[in-house]
Amino acid sequence: MCGIVGIAGCKPVADRLVSALAQLEYRGYDSAGIATLDHGEIQRRRAPGKLVNLANKLTLDPLAGTIGIGHTRWATHGAPTELNAHPHATPRVAVVHNGIIENYRSLLVELAADGYLPLTQTDSEVVAMMATRWMDLGLSPVAAVQATVSKLQGAFALVFLFHGEEQMLVAARQGSPLAVGYGDGEMFLGSDALALSLFTDKVTYLEEGDWAVVTPGQAAIRSREGSNVNRVVHQTNASSNIVEKGPYRHFMLKEIHEQPDAVSRVVGRFVDRGARTLAVQDPLSFDFADLTRMTVSACGTAYLAGVVGKYWFERYARLPVDIDVGSEFRYRQPPLAPEGLALFISQSGETADTLAALRYCAANGQHIASVVNVEESTIARESKSVFPLRCGPEIGVASTKAFTTQLTTLACLSVVAGRARGVLDSDKVEELVTALETLPGAIANALLAEDEIAEIARSISKASDALFLGRGPLYPIALEGALKLKEISYIHAEGYAAGELKHGPIALVDETIPVIVIAPSDELSEKTVSNMQEVAARGGRIVLVTDPKGAEMHGGIAQQCIVLPEVHPFVAPIVAAIAVQLLAYHTAAHLGADVDQPRNLAKSVTVE
Ligand code: AGP
Repeated sequence: MCGIVGIAGCKPVADRLVSALAQLEYRGYDSAGIATLDHGEIQRRRAPGKLVNLANKLTLDPLAGTIGIGHTRWATHGAPTELNAHPHATPRVAVVHNGIIENYRSLLVELAADGYLPLTQTDSEVVAMMATRWMDLGLSPVAAVQATVSKLQGAFALVFLFHGEEQMLVAARQGSPLAVGYGDGEMFLGSDALALSLFTDKVTYLEEGDWAVVTPGQAAIRSREGSNVNRVVHQTNASSNIVEKGPYRHFMLKEIHEQPDAVSRVVGRFVDRGARTLAVQDPLSFDFADLTRMTVSACGTAYLAGVVGKYWFERYARLPVDIDVGSEFRYRQPPLAPEGLALFISQSGETADTLAALRYCAANGQHIASVVNVEESTIARESKSVFPLRCGPEIGVASTKAFTTQLTTLACLSVVAGRARGVLDSDKVEELVTALETLPGAIANALLAEDEIAEIARSISKASDALFLGRGPLYPIALEGALKLKEISYIHAEGYAAGELKHGPIALVDETIPVIVIAPSDELSEKTVSNMQEVAARGGRIVLVTDPKGAEMHGGIAQQCIVLPEVHPFVAPIVAAIAVQLLAYHTAAHLGADVDQPRNLAKSVTVE
């Protein structure tokens, strides 16, 4: 998943292309490049690695021109080198691409037969080569794009820049998102509203199969079939305000410390303090009371929030929940219950696998709802009911505040559903409301354990493997702990249901492997402690994450203890998430890792 931009302007574009790419670097930082027209000639500058490398190159060797395109890359095909960096170009056309051209090999064979050979290892270059061949055969640039796009299979957002065409860009999308921005005598193209928010607050999102001829004065949008179409112009409030780290060393640490407020805002949106109950703000497109089943799909950390949600909906609303990762769900194509609700969880709202799962459920008669942070995202736009996180932009690739606000939103919804389905009486609702109200304070208290956690992280940073254990709704928190540690410290880690350890993974246990046991005092903690004993019996290095009562009773079994405030078991998974986030953060920080932009990752995964 890459970030792409285009400007059909009336004043120099190079610097503005780079600024827009800075807004998109969360999509990939393997390489970056721009191309402009200088007296009709295509000029390119590209650099491997982060955008700053390209910016430095342009300082030494600037580019002129009032029309241009740009790209920041997350490598799918071909190593992250300058050679494979976009824009891909021939003397006639330059192209930037986000997505995957699945039939690029067969197209390359066709092109080779006509003497067109690739210079790179990428799938994307085939687009520039095909457009060139069509123009060599006499087609106009616009006709060459139509002919090229009609042969492509897979996902793509494309912007084309043509030799000699100072007033025109051509764009096309299928699968990957692409937006048009309306300026004053200038037009803009970008992967999302965030990239365009530097230049305008009026954007149109191209729909599946749309393509557009963009000149400084206008955008002529066509459907796949070629007919002129009008798309809605949205007034976007995507803000281009550069988010600062403030006193924090990394965005991830800043976002960890933003969680008390972010969670408090979610609780505030659901809880009616006077009536001691909860309600959703906007009318729902479905009624929890009528639902027979709920299907949940998401990816990565968002998926794990969904797994915790399953425990809550089944316990507090007696609503059966099926949950699967988007990449499996979309091809598993499960039978869905009539009148079912399909809920999608996504920070970015652009994750391709989750979006595909949504479209499958929409095509199979489900009520579609989503929990998202980016309210103008494709997933939000294609949902009937949207529960926004409003936790602010999440810059760190490792999701933290989005995770705890996803959890808090699902916790609130499970109580709303429990009331609607007559499972929870007002006393129980009151009890759970009180538990939710304690959350912001409990999270703030948990953050006070940061120094101890940082000390424990120092010893974990010396390990090459780690295990996380939990039971019930703490099991997905164990999985999240392992995911966080893996993605930012590159230490191999696995999360397990504590009861599952003895069925194999316990073979891994010896004195070198830290075993993080998440066991706040609840109805299952004794069971988890028995599993902890089994680890201790094999000499495992135990880090116990618990509350004062748990520490007093079981602290002696562990080598190290992280003591979190005691809370109602309902909200304990949300507080425990803070401990595993800080553990991963400080382990990675000790190792000097690039915490905010870990290798091989990107913040929004818009390809399969
Ligand atoms: C989490 O830290 C990762 N960045 C990743 O697993 C992420 O949760 C996943 O890609 C889903 O992203 P989304 O919430 O934007 O859909």
